[in-house]
Amino acid sequence: MPCILAIESSCDETAAAVCRDGSILSNFIADQKIHARYGGVVPELASRAHMQNIVPVVDTALKTAGISLQAIDAIAFTQSPGLIGSLLVGGQFAKSLALSLQKPLIAVHHMQAHVLANLIDDPRPAFPYLCLTVSGGHTQIVLCESPTQLKVIGETIDDAAGEAFDKTAKLLGLPYPGGPLIDKYAKEGDPDRFHFPEPRIEGLNFSFSGLKTSILYFLQNAGKSLHYKPEQIATEEEQKAFIQANLNDICASVQRRIVEILLNKLKLASLETGIKEICIAGGVSANSGLRKGLEAYGKKYHWNTYIPDFQYCTDNAGMIAITGYYKFLAKEFSELDVQSAARAQW
Ligand code: KG4
Ligand code: ZN
Repeated sequence: MPCILAIESSCDETAAAVCRDGSILSNFIADQKIHARYGGVVPELASRAHMQNIVPVVDTALKTAGISLQAIDAIAFTQSPGLIGSLLVGGQFAKSLALSLQKPLIAVHHMQAHVLANLIDDPRPAFPYLCLTVSGGHTQIVLCESPTQLKVIGETIDDAAGEAFDKTAKLLGLPYPGGPLIDKYAKEGDPDRFHFPEPRIEGLNFSFSGLKTSILYFLQNAGKSLHYKPEQIATEEEQKAFIQANLNDICASVQRRIVEILLNKLKLASLETGIKEICIAGGVSANSGLRKGLEAYGKKYHWNTYIPDFQYCTDNAGMIAITGYYKFLAKEFSELDVQSAARAQW
């Protein structure tokens, strides 16, 4: 019955979780509100907030789980990818704890953890499964053959899907992170009102930078065209008035396009691999349009579809704990020295 304490600090959430024998006993997150006023995560502020949060967050996760430090069998932590200062806080804390308790340390790859979040609760996908991992920094299609055998078969060549949501929100004058707000306004809007272009990119890779540029031009000329036409650029007041009058429809139309881009690639991946066990993961999997779209594609193409519980979609330590559990079973431990702590393996 291995008991794992997990720590996540890759970006702007300080999180800790406890898992015993594959069941999550606690999953606690302190998110950092301070970044909203800057329109994005400020790395230096994030590391400082992790320093303040890490002890109370770990303490709360242990108390909620009713588990003492002595009962922990291993300590898992997010090793990469992420903001270096933020990763260092969680990593050094985990390493110090492992040293003082004389327990093994498990280094976890953040993107592997997003994929394995689908193994936390029932119903769980059967292996092999495909996972579309969509977050603020990544957009990937991962072929998962076992908890420790994963292969990226498609990924974005520029922006991530979450970035496409957040950058659109910024252009619309909405605060960071804008993804959830676009989702909220989209619910009241008409997704067929405006037509944004689908990128022409072969295979299983994604591209969102062209979409972002066409949204920029579209707003600059107050909805007259998707292209750069200097003679059509509207005044700032006209642009603001256009956004205000059409916010819901713009959000619904942009969301529809992003969701279609994601699901069409997933459809292609399923066709190419013959796999019909299909999962989504990452912060953008909280998007209601994507969740509904996945269900609709699932019905149409006879997929079994899976989405982690909401608390395990955005960054959390529960997913680090479940990954730590499987790595514990596979005896994939990390050395305590600095060099080996710099190598996060899938
Ligand atoms: O996985 P995550 O919490 O952090 C990263 O590892 O990046 O993902 C954060 C991203 C942000 O871009 C945020 O805007 C987006 O997920 N997001 C959403 C929604 N909730 C979070 N995007 C669209 N609709 C949502 N409901
Ligand atoms: Zn993430």
